[in-house]
Amino acid sequence: MVPARAAAIAAEWFRRLIGSSLSEMPIEGRGRFYGRTRAASEWILARAYRGGWPARVTRRLGLQRRVRVVYEHVVVPQWPRVHPTLRIAFASDLHAGPTTDPSLHDEALARVRELDADVVLLGGDYVFLDARHFPPLADRLAPLIAPLGRFAVMGNHDLWANDAAIASGLDRAGFRVLCNESVALGEPFADVSICGLDDPWTGARNVTAAFAGARAVRVLLMHSPAGVLLTKDERFAVALCGHTHGGHIALPGGVPIVAMGPNGRRHPHGRHELPQGTLIVSRGVGATESPLRMFADPDVLCVELTPPTSGDAARRRAGSARDA
Ligand SMILES: [Fe+2]
Repeated sequence: MVPARAAAIAAEWFRRLIGSSLSEMPIEGRGRFYGRTRAASEWILARAYRGGWPARVTRRLGLQRRVRVVYEHVVVPQWPRVHPTLRIAFASDLHAGPTTDPSLHDEALARVRELDADVVLLGGDYVFLDARHFPPLADRLAPLIAPLGRFAVMGNHDLWANDAAIASGLDRAGFRVLCNESVALGEPFADVSICGLDDPWTGARNVTAAFAGARAVRVLLMHSPAGVLLTKDERFAVALCGHTHGGHIALPGGVPIVAMGPNGRRHPHGRHELPQGTLIVSRGVGATESPLRMFADPDVLCVELTPPTSGDAARRRAGSARDA
């Protein structure tokens, strides 16, 4: 009975594979670019990884590395000097599924809680392979507290799964999902907006809508660094994203062997000063095809936006004098 059912499932999948176009496979979500190769590899992985044994084994053997906190400090020139510091906690690529052990989520979210941030932001890719992996992660996200709000955007793996179910789960867990829209924070940061861009690669990204009505200080929240290729005409204080996993499997020094998506080679992780503003790329937390990472340890970000100090002002004046 079981082999007969497995054969029927395989036959149906094969029929859909052959009957589909070269570039797109029918999926539950609204993501673009879900091609036949990906469909085939995910079909195989979902069966090979059944029960989540890769995550369990690698975690038990100590091969899933600990989650680091990466601290970054961004000076916002237009803020009055008396303005308080805004602390943002950012986590991305949690990838609930067979290659990420839930204890890694516990560890990452404990780091986020310890940061005692004003705002918590999530950069997408909540699942790998199937949205049905999301509810236990949603239960872990729900108790996070941030006095000025919790916001999220969607990633490519979410849009290739049942993204509507994931978005509802985030909403129930207290996160506002931003899809090409901005939201202003409350006092004393009413001049700060979080601008959420839909996934730059597979989503229906709309930069104009994402920045519409934004206040003077803009925090761009997006899934991948490819977003900065689209936002050339917009300025932001800081843009936060994940997606790259720092290459996931990298060479010593964190140089990715394979670039993860557009701009993944140029901005694989870390801080980058761009004409539009400061871009910070997280290596994310979880795993996709390979439960193992190499020279790309998982991280969460603690980003502080501060007004300029008198030292910053003096450095700027010296810079202008040199440029003149
Ligand atoms: Fe990811």
